[in-house]
Amino acid sequence: MVDHGKSFEFLTERIGEALKGEEDRDEKLRTICRLLKDNVPYYNWVGFYIVDEKKRNELVLGPFEGERTEHTRITFGRGICGQAAQIGRTFLVQDVSKEKNYLSCSTKVKSEIVVPIFKNKQVIGELDIDSHALSPFTKQDEAFLKRVSEMASRIL
Ligand code: SME
Repeated sequence: MVDHGKSFEFLTERIGEALKGEEDRDEKLRTICRLLKDNVPYYNWVGFYIVDEKKRNELVLGPFEGERTEHTRITFGRGICGQAAQIGRTFLVQDVSKEKNYLSCSTKVKSEIVVPIFKNKQVIGELDIDSHALSPFTKQDEAFLKRVSEMASRIL
């Protein structure tokens, strides 16, 4: 297994720096997406979904890096994103072909991790990563992405 500890540490620092900048919220979220997608080879699509303030059981696609997706609005409970938002926990799917409640964006995608973003214990959004590799995610990814979600929470 590849040890990503060092690169995750480096990326956490870079994200921390990006969040201190003068850019607006979406520009900062886009920078996080870019840093993750460009530096972790098996992160092939990286994006944020944000809870709609007017319809609090729907997620709206925010900044992302990777191919366009038709899933720009997802109701809580639908797909991996909707389930993670409804239940309020990380969903790690190492093989999407085995997941029944899944919204496909591209046939290239083999696995996905969705990490909720919390504010005052409420889900306010989530970080979604698709991979073209089967079973690429480890506990290290999960811990790292939780840290990134906590950092993103500060600007949401
Ligand atoms: N696969 C997700 C939909 C969002 S795309 O991955 C960008 C899901 O099942 O919720």
